[in-house]
Amino acid sequence: MSPRAARPGATAGAAAPGLGAILDAIPFACAAFSRADGALAAANHGFQDAFAALPGHRDRQQLASALGVAPDADGAEARAPHSGHWYALHWRPLAADGQAFDLLTAVDISARLEALDTHKHRQEKLLFTSRLMSVGEMAATLAHELNQPLAAIVNYLNGSLRLVGQAGGPAQVERALVAARTQAEHASAVIARVREFVRAREPRRDAQEVGVIAHTVLELLRLEAERQQLRIDLALSPSLPAVYADRVMVEQVLLNLVKNAIEAMREVPAPQRELRIEGRVNLDDEIEVRVLDRGGGLGPAESEQLFSPFFTTKSDGLGIGLAICRSIIEYHEGRLFFEPRTGGGSVFAFTLPRAEGRL
Ligand SMILES: Nc1ncnc2c1ncn2[C@@H]1O[C@H](COP(=O)(O)OP(=O)(O)OP(=O)(O)O)[C@@H](O)[C@H]1O
Ligand SMILES: [Mg+2]
Repeated sequence: MSPRAARPGATAGAAAPGLGAILDAIPFACAAFSRADGALAAANHGFQDAFAALPGHRDRQQLASALGVAPDADGAEARAPHSGHWYALHWRPLAADGQAFDLLTAVDISARLEALDTHKHRQEKLLFTSRLMSVGEMAATLAHELNQPLAAIVNYLNGSLRLVGQAGGPAQVERALVAARTQAEHASAVIARVREFVRAREPRRDAQEVGVIAHTVLELLRLEAERQQLRIDLALSPSLPAVYADRVMVEQVLLNLVKNAIEAMREVPAPQRELRIEGRVNLDDEIEVRVLDRGGGLGPAESEQLFSPFFTTKSDGLGIGLAICRSIIEYHEGRLFFEPRTGGGSVFAFTLPRAEGRL
């Protein structure tokens, strides 16, 4: 041990009597190192408390390397490995008793960093909540406006079905009426759930099969798909684990994504119109559902705005489909994202947690 090094618990080393007393008046961890050999010459109690347990703290080089900074890095922020505290480090030249020292002050900034972190976290949460609220309010308004006409549509369809039944056909009309009623009932279910969602802000989640959800969605879009002569490739393994989700909400997400995919392929030649729905367990052990199309894809500028409410490139679009999808998926602790598809087109994918262990 260098004879000039500060004794543990002492405030001054032999080489700099008086210096320790001065350093002790400073409210931060503070230590003087000899300019000549970098050995610790004096330290205040703050420094002893913060760094005495750190091996090598009596030598400027070793101390700096333990903190992961350069020995003369003025203004550096460093994490002390033994305590996990963060310090802002400053070096100043100091002459005392005819000797040259370099004075280190180490201000503990852990609390400030933590506050910043919390602030950022809160900010993000706020942003998320406000996005959810605006989409929620919009949805509530729509739900309110659409509820009455939808109920009337279902009533009319039921009336028509009764009349067709009494008249004994024709069967095609009956099928079309049943299909129309299925659509209207789905719309009502979505609206009912949206209202509940907005009111309670708590989806009703339980174990759901992605395959069942995909079939429901494709059934709702069958007409549209046939009209476009679309090839649909449903690649969901029956062994795909169940997800922990609100069924109607996830149906709504998938419906929006598949609708977008179909709309994206309006302009491409019919033989290329291929839609694929895949499911897999990803590396984070979540279920990832992927909707792949062979449409025009998206440029970098578009893909940035994609999820903002009211962003649309369609003359008949509202631009809220993806914004709602994202709110729903985030509510389910999942992610919704876009990727270009190899060979042309887009991939829209979302993740959902597994039901296993949640019920
Ligand atoms: N599969 C896709 N391929 C290419 N572009 C897409 C695809 N899906 C979405 N987009 C782009 O993102 C925009 C926003 O989609 P979003 O679903 O939010 O709104 P929209 O489809 O335009 O209207 P709506 O509110 O009726 O859904 C679309 O207008 C389109 O430009
Ligand atoms: Mg859409």
